[in-house]
Amino acid sequence: PPLIIRGKDEMREWSRSARAEGKTIGLVPTMGFLHGGHLSLIHESKKHADLTVVSIYVNPGQFSPNEDLSTYPSDFDGDIQKLNSVSGGVDVVFHPQNLYDYGGRRSSGGEEEEGKVVSCVEINGGMGHETWVRAERLDNGLCGNSRPVFFRGVATIVAKLFNIVEPDVAVFGKKDYQQWRIIKRMVRDLDFGINVIGADLIRDEDGLAKSSRNVHLSPQERERALSISKSLSNAKFAAENGQLNCKELRDSVIQAIQEAGGKVDYAEIVEQESLEALKEISSSSPAVFCVAAIFGNVRLLDNMEINV
Ligand code: PAJ
Repeated sequence: PPLIIRGKDEMREWSRSARAEGKTIGLVPTMGFLHGGHLSLIHESKKHADLTVVSIYVNPGQFSPNEDLSTYPSDFDGDIQKLNSVSGGVDVVFHPQNLYDYGGRRSSGGEEEEGKVVSCVEINGGMGHETWVRAERLDNGLCGNSRPVFFRGVATIVAKLFNIVEPDVAVFGKKDYQQWRIIKRMVRDLDFGINVIGADLIRDEDGLAKSSRNVHLSPQERERALSISKSLSNAKFAAENGQLNCKELRDSVIQAIQEAGGKVDYAEIVEQESLEALKEISSSSPAVFCVAAIFGNVRLLDNMEINV
């Protein structure tokens, strides 16, 4: 079974001694409630590094007060069981209680506040934490429109994890396409010296993109949510067979999702690296069709790369 580390100092010490022994380290950051998508990232890490660290931390800094921090699913014991079944094993699970605790803080009563779980309001209000990492262009658009603090929260927590774990390699899923691009960009722009690997999006057998949040879908909602992957794959097929007009392709997806009772947050065809919106798909600018849609109370993401 993996070693479970909860403190940042212990985590850094473990990494430094592993590296002193000549081992390379792969990091897979997660918010837990693990599924096959997360496990595929772990397999990818094991291909590229001697040792693999999986972090499990639901980061309050990337949630707005009106979002689902309080209902975000968790099952630490179940997660550990899944990690135990990974062939070849995971070396460390880094499971901090509060990564915004910088020590030395005491409440007025004099007791230690260490380990106290902080709220998203406290963090985003700049109390105790005020330094943020932002990819200023890439974090506009797509998910950035409806989730204004999300990407700075993600980039900042990932920068913190990189500084604590000091990995050689880090693996992110292309399911969260914009997130993956922002992290790659941050590592390049800030010279982290970490090899960021993008892993393919993993789906359930019916086509639904795997996500921890899928557990909140009723069976009916889940059935209707299949309109996302079905319409996306129809659009991909159409594009790869000559339908290159982005408006037509987007309209077909929006219509299919709305007909199934979903609310489309966005359905955009963007260039794969810059994430800039395209009018026309062409072989000179590889495209990815990104969708966010809400079924019930669940916001679902999906995307497909289109290569013509
Ligand atoms: P979380 O949603 O738990 O996802 C952790 C990692 O698993 C991310 O890199 C995500 O892209 C990947 N992943 C999730 N579902 C996937 C799927 N169906 N196929 C492939 N990869 C998938 O993303 C986060 O957590 C957080 O924002 C985090 C990066 C940990 C920062 O807090």
